[in-house]
Amino acid sequence: MARIIAGVTSSHVPAIGAAIDNHRTEEPYWKRVFSGFEKSKEWMAKVKPDVCIAVYNDHASAFSVEIVPTFALGCAAEFPPADEGWGPRPVPVVKGHPQLAAHIAQSVILDEFDLTVVNKMEVDHGLTVPMNLLFGSPKEWPCPVIPLAVNVVLYPPPTGHRCFMLGRAIRKAVESYPEDLRVVMMGTGGMSHQISGPRAGLINSKFDKAFLDNLSKDPKKLMRMPHIDYMREAGAEGIEMVMWLVMRGALDDKVDEVYRFYTVPASNTAVGHIILANRAKSAKRKPVAKHKRAAARAKVDRIRS
Ligand code: DHB
Ligand code: FE
Repeated sequence: MARIIAGVTSSHVPAIGAAIDNHRTEEPYWKRVFSGFEKSKEWMAKVKPDVCIAVYNDHASAFSVEIVPTFALGCAAEFPPADEGWGPRPVPVVKGHPQLAAHIAQSVILDEFDLTVVNKMEVDHGLTVPMNLLFGSPKEWPCPVIPLAVNVVLYPPPTGHRCFMLGRAIRKAVESYPEDLRVVMMGTGGMSHQISGPRAGLINSKFDKAFLDNLSKDPKKLMRMPHIDYMREAGAEGIEMVMWLVMRGALDDKVDEVYRFYTVPASNTAVGHIILANRAKSAKRKPVAKHKRAAARAKVDRIRS
């Protein structure tokens, strides 16, 4: 059986990608940002997931405003980097996992959770920047990645509750996949940022840190938060954080917080990152108390007689 072992969130600021591509990661400004992901890269290299599911948003690269699916699942064998105006980023092509993706599409859609099935798609900074932050800059990405694009660019985006429940449905899908795969869920985007208008540059660290606390310990609180609260407190683009709830919904209610990092700013944006791990399920069965065993035996005897 496949299972989700952990969830990781990360911002996807495009300037982080530009700093990598232009070899500026050692500059003090950028070193501050990248140093926060050293432990995460070590963790990823140790955990070695068989597959990642990356919840991210497309920024009008694969989907123009003519067609904007709310949830789009990448079922293709590969996803090349998109040209976002400066040519495609010099990063490896993302290899998908068409079998698991098709299984998730079937399970989730028949569970009445409508998804758009995407058989051809390029991926932009929303996906490629978190890949660099979590895997570094290898020649090939170390594992297949299933992209799940969420609309957070055109009103109305899905609610936090809907995102969380999609995470739950994905977990059910993964757990009904027969192959033994260890899956890591990625939630990307955020944290507080607004990139246009009079409030451009808005950063709200108090909100961001409370969001990270709740994501870790009390995600149900976040499920109820309306869009207007994200917009007011975390800026227009802060709404990207609803995607983190897909990741959280796919995890157990109680998780271990493995690592957290927060820094301000990167470009116009607050950078936030957290690693949450499901607690290992014990293979041993819980010992049943003697009196409970006796009561169960008595019940069976009553039924039989
Ligand atoms: C910027 C763009 C993004 O998509 C984002 O999530 C954060 C920042 C930017 O253009 O700076
Ligand atoms: Fe974005």
